[in-house]
Amino acid sequence: MAKIQSSPDLPWTVRLFISAVSFAVDTSCRSNFTVNRRLWNLLDYKPSPLTKPHRNLKSSDVVTDPSHNLWFRLYTPTAATTKKLPILVFFHGGGFAFMSASSKLYDDFCQRLTRELPAVVVSVNYRLSPEHRYPCQYDDGFDVLKFIDGSSSSCLFEGANLGQCFLAGDSAGGNIAHHVAIRASGHEFRHLKVVGMLAIQPFFGGEERTESETRLKNMPLVNMERTDWMWKAFLPEGSDRDHPVVNVFGPNAVDILGVDFPATIVFVGGLDQLQDWQKRYYEGLKKRGKQAELVVFPNAIHTFYAYPELDDSSVFIHRVRDFVQAHAIIQCNSNSTII
Ligand SMILES: *[C@@H]1O[C@H](CO)[C@@H](O)[C@H](O)[C@H]1NC(C)=O
Repeated sequence: MAKIQSSPDLPWTVRLFISAVSFAVDTSCRSNFTVNRRLWNLLDYKPSPLTKPHRNLKSSDVVTDPSHNLWFRLYTPTAATTKKLPILVFFHGGGFAFMSASSKLYDDFCQRLTRELPAVVVSVNYRLSPEHRYPCQYDDGFDVLKFIDGSSSSCLFEGANLGQCFLAGDSAGGNIAHHVAIRASGHEFRHLKVVGMLAIQPFFGGEERTESETRLKNMPLVNMERTDWMWKAFLPEGSDRDHPVVNVFGPNAVDILGVDFPATIVFVGGLDQLQDWQKRYYEGLKKRGKQAELVVFPNAIHTFYAYPELDDSSVFIHRVRDFVQAHAIIQCNSNSTII
C-alpha cells in the first residue's frame, strides 16, 4: 500500500502558484459574501485565445448568449485526422465564484486535454456567484449543450462527433457537470449525446463535518472556511449545506434512480479535504445503479491535475484518455448495431 504523506511534497513552482491563488481568493472574498472583482481581475491573468494554430491546436472565444455574455473557449486540434473526435464540455473550478474559461490555469489545462486526448474541448465561461447565484451556473452549462446541438449547420464543430460528448469539470465545475448531466438526460437533443462524465475532485458537501475535512484542515487551497464561504455565496439566501445541489445524496437529495445518467469517473486526491464527500458521491452513484469508477491518487492535493510538473498529473491525463476512448468506442458500437 502506498504511504500516505501528512504534508504534500510539491515543487516550488506549484507552491508559489498555490500561495498566489490562495492570497488572491482570500483578499477578494469579503465578509459580507461579495467578491472584490476589481482586485481579483488584477490578479487573474487571462491569455487571449490562440487564433493562429500553435503546437497543433487553435482556440477561439464563442459567444452563445450576448444577453448575459455567455461564451465558451473552443479548442480544436489542427493535426490532420481521418475520424471525428469526441467533444468534451468542460466546467472550470473556483468555488463557483472565481476563475474563468480564459484564466491561465484553465487555458493551459484545456490545451493539454485537447492535444493529449485528443478531443475538441469546449470550456464554458459560466456566470459566477455571488453576483449570479445557483442555478445560473447550471442554466449556462445546459444552454451551451443546446447551443452545440443546434450548431450542426455551422462549421464550428465540424471536427467533432456530437454523438460522443463528455461532460467534465473540476472542483465546482465537477458539481456543475453533475447537475448539467441530470438536465441533459431529460432532454431530447438532435445530434448531441452525453456518453460520459468526468468528475475531477468535484465540489460537494453537507452540514456534517467529515473525517477528511477535519483531519486535512491545513492542506493547500481547500479548507472549511473557504468552502463554507463559497457555498454561502452560491446558494439562495437562508439555505444550508444540506441543500440538494450540495449534499447530492444527503437528507434533502433529489432521487436520480430513474435518471439515465452517463458513465462517470470520479477522481479523488488523498490530500484533499473534500475526498470523503467525493467518495460518497461515487458510492451514491453505484448504489443507484449508475456506471461509475473511482480513481484515487493517495498523495494528491486539490487541483493536482493542473500542474504538469507533478507525475500524478500525467497519470491523470492517461486515465482520462482511457476513459474517453473506452466510452467513445462503446458509442460507435451501439451506433453500428442500430444501423
Ligand atoms: C460589501 O462590502 C463592500 C466593501 O466593504 C461594500 O462596498 C459593499 O457595498 C458591501 N455589499 C453588500 C451587499 O453589503
